[in-house]
Amino acid sequence: MTSLTASAPGEPAGEAIVDWYTTAARDLPWRFPEVDAWAVLVSEVMLQQTPVARVEPVWREWMARWPRPADLAATPPGEVIRAWGKLGYPRRALRLREAAVAVTERHGGVVPSDVAALEALPGIGTYTARAVACFGYGQRQPVVDTNVRRVVARLVHGQAEAGNARASDLADIAALAPEDDDRAVRFSVAVMELGALVCVARTPRCGACPVRDRCAWRLAGSPAHDGPPRRVQKFAGTDRQVRGRLLDVLRAAHEPVDAAALDRAWDDAVQRSRCLDSLLGDGLVEQTADGLFRLPA
Ligand code: ADE
Repeated sequence: MTSLTASAPGEPAGEAIVDWYTTAARDLPWRFPEVDAWAVLVSEVMLQQTPVARVEPVWREWMARWPRPADLAATPPGEVIRAWGKLGYPRRALRLREAAVAVTERHGGVVPSDVAALEALPGIGTYTARAVACFGYGQRQPVVDTNVRRVVARLVHGQAEAGNARASDLADIAALAPEDDDRAVRFSVAVMELGALVCVARTPRCGACPVRDRCAWRLAGSPAHDGPPRRVQKFAGTDRQVRGRLLDVLRAAHEPVDAAALDRAWDDAVQRSRCLDSLLGDGLVEQTADGLFRLPA
């Protein structure tokens, strides 16, 4: 993956990043040319908060099982939550199903290509809408995730970390994109890859970076981050872990379970009941008329 040569002098940064991608890109299945916009949409929602290695097998299962939006739309929510497995943040599974229903009802089963129509789908925000338009439909679009914001912060603004999203992020990245439309599409995934593999948060591999010779952060002497410390997400002991444990019980059970089965999943009764309430509120769990619990039918 390492390209130890910097780009040709005078070559625009965006072009250099595309050239680097050609040799350094990971061979990820949702990047294959035959992958359609629905498959891209599912991959992008899964990848938003979950690492590539965990997403890949689940994405393959989903694509085999639900190759079109209408297939997912026709599936009960509980099945969809079960198939989400351990990807985490399981509300995404429900939102994806709702998006599939909306695509089926409003768009004749075809994922729309227009950014505004994509953004109007449940759970689809600025990032995902542009990622689908760009990677699924080959449109020139600024696609800005956390990794891309970090590349922009360093390369353009000379800052070690991205901090909060800036209103100018989309414009900054659009300004770096090559003129040629096909290369601009490749640039969108290339800059994401650069942020994932080289311009990483903690120990950037500047020696392998195709734009190190014009990176504002390097040129400023790689100053340390001077804002508030990056928040490290804890997992152990959090409500997120407890919600996961409760859902594990329900995913494994194919019949409704009683409260005692859920009690065994976590000792702290106050936290457990708060988490069960929140799962019920999110529609990830439902209670039957006889007081048992199950994934939603
Ligand atoms: N390729 C296209 N989108 C991606 C993403 N969000 N993460 C990793 N690889 C990708």
